[in-house]
Amino acid sequence: MINYNTQTGTAIDKAAAYLTAGELVAIPTETVYGLAANATDTLAVKKVFEVKKRPFFNPLIVHCEKTEQINLYVSGISPLAEKLLQAFSPGPLTILLPGNNQLPDTINNGMRDVAFRIPAHPITQILLNILPFPLVAPSANIFTTISPTTPAHVLKNFNGQIPYILDGGACSVGLESTVVGFDREGMPVIFRQGAITAEQIKEIAGTVRFHSKEENGASPGMTAIHYAPTTPLYLEEDVTTEFTTDKIGVICFNEKDERYSEQNQIVLSKAGNLTEAARHLYDALHQLDERKLDFIIAKKIPNEGIGIAINDRIQRAAHAFKKNSK
Ligand code: TXA
Ligand code: MG
Repeated sequence: MINYNTQTGTAIDKAAAYLTAGELVAIPTETVYGLAANATDTLAVKKVFEVKKRPFFNPLIVHCEKTEQINLYVSGISPLAEKLLQAFSPGPLTILLPGNNQLPDTINNGMRDVAFRIPAHPITQILLNILPFPLVAPSANIFTTISPTTPAHVLKNFNGQIPYILDGGACSVGLESTVVGFDREGMPVIFRQGAITAEQIKEIAGTVRFHSKEENGASPGMTAIHYAPTTPLYLEEDVTTEFTTDKIGVICFNEKDERYSEQNQIVLSKAGNLTEAARHLYDALHQLDERKLDFIIAKKIPNEGIGIAINDRIQRAAHAFKKNSK
């Protein structure tokens, strides 16, 4: 495998040139950084799966500049899908639409629906505007590890494996997009919770439900252990024993907890603001993971608005440890 001298910079034209040549480039979006490739180039799409170590059956999101570009790759957009796109795009919404076979099957393992998203980050908007093709972009982390919200997080995952990281600063939302599909009746179904809440979808669509595991074609990204740090992570509510170590990291919502040693506690939002907490979550996990602690404990975040998605991610991060240890 080629060993790149991975560079980080703000040169949009450089990123465009690499992508045009079939190379992978990490791109900023408002949610998390993406590991991008030309969505119309089968070999480039395959490279994304390889470099990310992601199973081929876990489909990728196609990032477009605007709805007109999505139109080139779908057999139709229902009036409701159109309404959701109008309400939440550009932004942290991913929508599942029936493909028209103009994109490689590798993207979604030949399934009917393809996931589309119009990212709002201004740098990536310019990039997509320059390029004559859309970009596949899963989160720019090795499969199952913590998602990246800064170029430094991306570098930790892919140093030497990609030529370029397009620097757009720290992500403003900090959690992945909400993935919305439609059932046979055309009603919206949430496959992955995210920055746009179920209530917000309901306001536009009148109704919404969550995808259940029992339904066929379970959203692959939702079943596996996910978003996990290397350090074992406990939900505070699951901790029943006294710890005999001081090497405990704590993810707190708005204040530190005096029962734990002070220096390894990270407060997500002093003001108790859920949007700010979402923005800081992954960076807090990255930071604590680097400190070589024995455990990380995550406190419960108020389960409302974007707090629901924060708790969802924390629960998935904790799953890995619970499964192996109990
Ligand atoms: O915010 C985001 O969505 C970020 C940024 C980079 O755009 N991307 C991202 O991609 O989180 P990824 O690949 O890490 O997660 C994509 C999710 C997975 O849970 C996947 O299973 C689901 O979208 N997905 C994609 N295509 C699908 C499809 N056709 N049917 C069902 N689920 C799909
Ligand atoms: Mg991901």
